[in-house]
Amino acid sequence: MGIANNYQGWVYESWKILEKSIIYYQGKPIGNVAAQDPNLVALNYDQCFIRDFVPSALLLLMHGQTEIVRNFLDTTLKLQSHHKGMDYFQPGQGLMPASFKVVCNGDEEFLDADFGEHAIARVPPVDSSLWWVLLVRAYCKATQNFSFAHQQKYQEGIKLILDLCLAHRFDMFPTLLVPDGAFMIDRRMGVSGHPLEIQVLFYAALRAACELILPLDEKSKLYLQRATQRLSALHYHVRQYYWIDLQRLSEIYRYKSNQFGKEVANKFNIFAESIPDWLTNWLPEKAGYLAGNLGPGLMDFRFFSLGNLLAILVSLASKEESELIMDLFEQRWHDLIGFMPVKICFPALSGLEWRIVTGCDPKNSPWSYHNGGSWPVLLWLFAAAAQKTGKIELAERAIDIAEKRLIVDNFPEYYDGKIGRLIGKEARAFQTWTIAGLLTAKELIANPDYIEIISFEEGIEVSTQ
Ligand code: GLC
Repeated sequence: MGIANNYQGWVYESWKILEKSIIYYQGKPIGNVAAQDPNLVALNYDQCFIRDFVPSALLLLMHGQTEIVRNFLDTTLKLQSHHKGMDYFQPGQGLMPASFKVVCNGDEEFLDADFGEHAIARVPPVDSSLWWVLLVRAYCKATQNFSFAHQQKYQEGIKLILDLCLAHRFDMFPTLLVPDGAFMIDRRMGVSGHPLEIQVLFYAALRAACELILPLDEKSKLYLQRATQRLSALHYHVRQYYWIDLQRLSEIYRYKSNQFGKEVANKFNIFAESIPDWLTNWLPEKAGYLAGNLGPGLMDFRFFSLGNLLAILVSLASKEESELIMDLFEQRWHDLIGFMPVKICFPALSGLEWRIVTGCDPKNSPWSYHNGGSWPVLLWLFAAAAQKTGKIELAERAIDIAEKRLIVDNFPEYYDGKIGRLIGKEARAFQTWTIAGLLTAKELIANPDYIEIISFEEGIEVSTQ
């Protein structure tokens, strides 16, 4: 690839590591491994994860390295499940794998995909398909070539994903109902139900699908119609019910409960007693965010960074809300950025709550890993959201903090501690998305136009449902 040679110092070193992470199939670059820690057993970190490849793909597209992204999309499209049978131990039709690897047998090479059937706790990768559609659009935008997505095989692949997501299930919400650990947080963390991250990804993937599907026949028009209807309902639902600020918190605090009937204020029967103690002091006068989850009798008040930042980027949060989310980062800098950007969620679960919700998971002990750890990969989303809301100085501050430590610490996967001061207890070194996240964040600040390949403008009117 040779991009490293355009740079010096640590950027040169980072690109070198990134170039070394690339995996090849039949001589072609098709993705990259999750980590290259020489001192730890690889487990499945020698595989290419769809979600992990996202910041690398964006970075490569920004550098005109389109071939590897195209190969990645072609490869994963071939790996998409086409299983229609009654074997319920198989991935359902349309599902994209969590990860894949190249297996060699003598001179022959094979691709081996994992849909979660090998993964710890057998978690389903609901986010993979959604990120995949977003990457198809990013590729088309970066190359200015939408006919790529118009190929029949891509049209079919996208429609299979829509079939999976738009199917009518039991619940009557426009959000997607998923099991625990269906996305970046791929361990039991009380993120089952309707977690924010999946809803924002779903929204973005639907918007991308609407741009990519050609309305050539009645069937395609129907897909577009169903996607648009779902988008409008999803948009309304998330903005209406997930948003939290001081005013909304006061409303919830004074909610009447056990209301029966259609036109009730407390539709989800949220009890005021479920408002956690930390929140009433923590929430600034002028700031807000989207809640982590919403369901019957449930509002998860934890702050999840990925969902909130992505909501800004894809305009699921309104312009005002986007600014208020960034205000929250600014005013709670110590908690959400601290010594390493960005905190994956805040606050950590501890004590009895940790025991019950995580099932006593020692990897997710309080302020570690997914349970309040700090993940440098999220820096690219922070920079993109800062760019979109015109808060560049916040991104620059965060990049400055991250840059200094990441190089010295050999690009760890995550950091631990309330303010992210310790290298994660079980963190791998030379984690690919940590490196790509930092480089992508820097590109997004240096070249503001780059966010267009991954962002969406406000476009769907709030439905008057
Ligand atoms: C861990 C993370 C997951 C990531 C994978 C590979 O399982 O939780 O989000 O995709 O490692 O880096």
